[in-house]
Amino acid sequence: MQIAIDGPAASGKTSLGAALAQQFGYLFAETGKMYRAVALGLERGLKLDEIDISVDGNNHFLLNGEDVTDLLHSPRLDQAASRAAIRPEVRRKLVSLQQQIARGRDIVMEGRDIGTVVLPQAEIKIFLEARPSSRARRRMKQRKELDFRTTLREIVARDERDSTRDIAPLNPARDAIIMNTDQKSLEEVICEATDLVKEYLEGHCCVQ
Ligand code: DC
Repeated sequence: MQIAIDGPAASGKTSLGAALAQQFGYLFAETGKMYRAVALGLERGLKLDEIDISVDGNNHFLLNGEDVTDLLHSPRLDQAASRAAIRPEVRRKLVSLQQQIARGRDIVMEGRDIGTVVLPQAEIKIFLEARPSSRARRRMKQRKELDFRTTLREIVARDERDSTRDIAPLNPARDAIIMNTDQKSLEEVICEATDLVKEYLEGHCCVQ
């Protein structure tokens, strides 16, 4: 069983993905963190072919063997990851790693191009949507950033870059279920998605 969750920055993909993975006992893969780890490597002056990204059993992200999980979430890396993600050779490297991780596994994978490029065969595809202002407010809560206008501006800049790049721009897959989360709590979104997964499993004789 493969579940793809896509959507723009701060739309709640990680919270939803982690909750679904835990509930159904599936592996959880956050692909944004892989782009962030590559961006960190490039910032450190490494060439792409000198960068090795891996994920350990505790969902920690390793850059050439070093655990960099705690370094990946900063406004600087938000933008650097989005810029690195434009490069075709970066995408090739990470899509291949992501497909390798997902092969033959029950998995929830979140990102921007999971339903369209990485796992086009995923049984369930969810695309989260929310207004930039709602997402900026959520991001501020997570990171305790106080400046709403700067946070909003950075989210809009990232939306623009992620949606207009030539390769794998952010787009819902044709068979994705679009969930608008502006008026919903995280609990409501998780409940709705859980029902979708249960419905799918019941329809395919594999009730959990
Ligand atoms: O989900 P995130 O904010 O951690 O992602 C960081 C950046 O990585 C995002 O701005 C675009 C890029 N990204 C991507 O291009 N494709 C993915 N599957 C995941 C992330």
